[in-house]
Amino acid sequence: MKQEKLIEKYTKQVTVYEKNRDHPTITSWRKRIIKDAYGTVLEAGVSVGANFPYYDKDKVTEITGVDFSSEMIKSAIKSAQQHHINATFITQDINSLQLAPNFYDTIVSTLTLCSYPNPIETLNQFNTWCRKDGSVLFLEHGLSTNPLLSLTQKIVDPIYKRISGCHCNRNMVKLIEESQLQIEKVERFWSGIAILIWAKPTK
Ligand SMILES: C[S@@+](CC[C@H](N)C(=O)[O-])C[C@H]1O[C@@H](n2cnc3c(N)ncnc32)[C@H](O)[C@@H]1O
Repeated sequence: MKQEKLIEKYTKQVTVYEKNRDHPTITSWRKRIIKDAYGTVLEAGVSVGANFPYYDKDKVTEITGVDFSSEMIKSAIKSAQQHHINATFITQDINSLQLAPNFYDTIVSTLTLCSYPNPIETLNQFNTWCRKDGSVLFLEHGLSTNPLLSLTQKIVDPIYKRISGCHCNRNMVKLIEESQLQIEKVERFWSGIAILIWAKPTK
């Protein structure tokens, strides 16, 4: 799918993301992982700023939100204002982004690793941008640990991608293991379809 088409697809979903911002189960996962963010934070695929209420303002100094959809960024700006978050925003494709190496204490990716065309390259960018002692935090959806469900996900992936813009058949643990990041802790939910991953960079 061409990049403009993909941006258009996500832009059309702004209202849906806004409506689902407070989904109780997803919110419980957001709270669990986002509380560990600290210092300077880069949030990749920030979308409508659904994580903003859950950052610990005593620990987080500044958030940089990146998204290639300007409509998503507009919504995230409103959310940042509403939750008194000190944030700056970059409207750009994460894959063409040039950021200073070793700058961020925390990199956050929630429900975005399913979207990138070359996820290992993106993960390696995270490794470059994150400070040596920093953290990379993930809440992702991907391939189930249940064989029947994972087979279904593999079969429906092309249609899923066409409708939503992202993949449902990615093995997130395997992708991170194949990148330069190092996994510290994993928690799985919904037969492994939803996953929380705490990772560290390797320098
Ligand atoms: C499924 S949404 C997830 C949003 C949000 N992080 C959350 O937790 O609800 C994916 C977001 O990533 C953005 N996105 C997808 N691919 C991107 C890319 N290559 N560069 C920048 N943003 C991207 C989309 O515009 C969308 O806002």
